Amino acid sequence: MIMIDFDALTKKYNKLGIPTPAKRLIKTPEQIEGIRKAGIINTQVLDEVAKNIKAGMSTEDINIIVHNKTIELGGIPAPLGYEGFPKSCCTSVNDEVCHGIPSEDCILKNGDIINVDCTTIYNGYYADASRMFCIGQCSNEALNLVKVCKESLDLAVKELKPFSRLRDIGYNIETHVKANGYSVVHEIGGHGVGNDFHEEPFVYHFGKKGTGMVLFPGMVITIEPMVNEASRHVFLDADNNWTIYTEDGGLSAQYEYTVLIKEDGIEILAY
Ligand code: MF3
Ligand code: CO
Ligand code: CO
Repeated sequence: MIMIDFDALTKKYNKLGIPTPAKRLIKTPEQIEGIRKAGIINTQVLDEVAKNIKAGMSTEDINIIVHNKTIELGGIPAPLGYEGFPKSCCTSVNDEVCHGIPSEDCILKNGDIINVDCTTIYNGYYADASRMFCIGQCSNEALNLVKVCKESLDLAVKELKPFSRLRDIGYNIETHVKANGYSVVHEIGGHGVGNDFHEEPFVYHFGKKGTGMVLFPGMVITIEPMVNEASRHVFLDADNNWTIYTEDGGLSAQYEYTVLIKEDGIEILAY
């Protein structure tokens, strides 16, 4: 149970010139319980994808698995109809950075890497996570990119504590990614989540240690680094207005967790 003295903490940090979260971003115990349940469903949906995904399948087949499993477990797939998004999950293959739209015409083949991003609404609460899947035999370069992306997220989560500074997350991610010769996408970030799909704050995946807002217990955020094998620069699909690609056509990988900040540590609510 999270019981912080919000007003006293706000005053203390603001006196030091450190930005603090708005009160609405501190979840109540009841809200946390709801987000936790949404996260359990979301994790089961991604597990179902993991069990079934293989070469020869279309990304629409994945969309159907996600849609049906979410409904079977009592949830609602948040992407469907969100700002006009036409499907129940995002499927981003190879040089697609994020927000790929499932399609019958996109057939997974040996050597592809794909991110499947699922968000579940349960009883009004949201949880958001994504994983990479390596189809058949992938190049060592592709496998290493995926590995480094996951390591960067796990490292950032390992260092995350109550009263951490927001930009430490990005600092830890970017440091690991750059040490491995890869780059971090700047334009898209993580976000507060739980009572809505996308809440404040914007969670940077790069930046300066010891800066940004202080993270209070009761906050729920996603961390979802997009890591490119070459240039960090990206562009938006001019036809569908959703899908983001690497500018140079290089591979991109992403993992996403929903994370709760507690008084005594953190809890991964969806992965
Ligand atoms: N799940 C994505 C995120 O991590 C958002 C997808 S929006 C959609 O924030 F409409 F494309 F589904
Ligand atoms: Co997200
Ligand atoms: Co997501």
